[in-house]
Amino acid sequence: MRLCVNIDHFATLREARGGLEPDPVTAAQICELHGAEGIVCHLREDRRHINDRDLRLLRETVKTKLDLEMAATDEIIQIAIDTLPDLVTLVPEKRKELTTESGLDVLKEGEKLAHAVRTLHANDIEVSFFVDPIDQHIEAAAEAGADLIEIHTGEFANARSEEEMLEHLERIKSAAAYAHTLGLGVNAGHGINYTNVKYITPIREIEEISIGHSLVARAMFVGLPAAVEEMNRLMRGF
Ligand code: PXP
Repeated sequence: MRLCVNIDHFATLREARGGLEPDPVTAAQICELHGAEGIVCHLREDRRHINDRDLRLLRETVKTKLDLEMAATDEIIQIAIDTLPDLVTLVPEKRKELTTESGLDVLKEGEKLAHAVRTLHANDIEVSFFVDPIDQHIEAAAEAGADLIEIHTGEFANARSEEEMLEHLERIKSAAAYAHTLGLGVNAGHGINYTNVKYITPIREIEEISIGHSLVARAMFVGLPAAVEEMNRLMRGF
């Protein structure tokens, strides 16, 4: 299982003051130097953290894999085509949300998403759908032409009791297995931290996990190299 680091929060901190620091592009380089196997950023329509300049420089400098999270809007699809990330992860986007709150409603938005997939595929860009661990959404993702899904692990991460957490974990496991039988690649992300990652790493269908907030928060205290290395150690079970 590969660790992909979401660097949005470096840009969030930069935007708190405007200016140049901290630079998410520098953060991406440090993450890669210390073992991250992918860099994730979310170009939001309101550019609240990552901006067009960041994406351009990330495309030029990321040496592992660049995963662009984005909404399936015409403007952002065109930017993806101009930038050519290694992977696009389509996510729902609401302006007032603090972070992505749920998976895509693939049942409702199937046609729009399928159109986005066709456009991105025509430009040789792989496409993942961020979905809740629900079979019908996974089937609809396969029908819409997605190459992969990213399973939303937020409810698992936010569970308020161990029992509830284990129930969500079972859903994630069975969603990963089901997606695999449909020929979809499987990633996962949202709310994964240094404590709960041990439940996710044994799920063998999951190829990549995307981690942002917990890793950036830890980096503030121990430094970014140590935060990346520690997460990598945990993912390898020691
Ligand atoms: N995956 C997706 C689709 C996301 O939107 C986010 C948050 O930006 C993450 C993963 C990472 O979540 P977290 O910051 O909680 O680790």
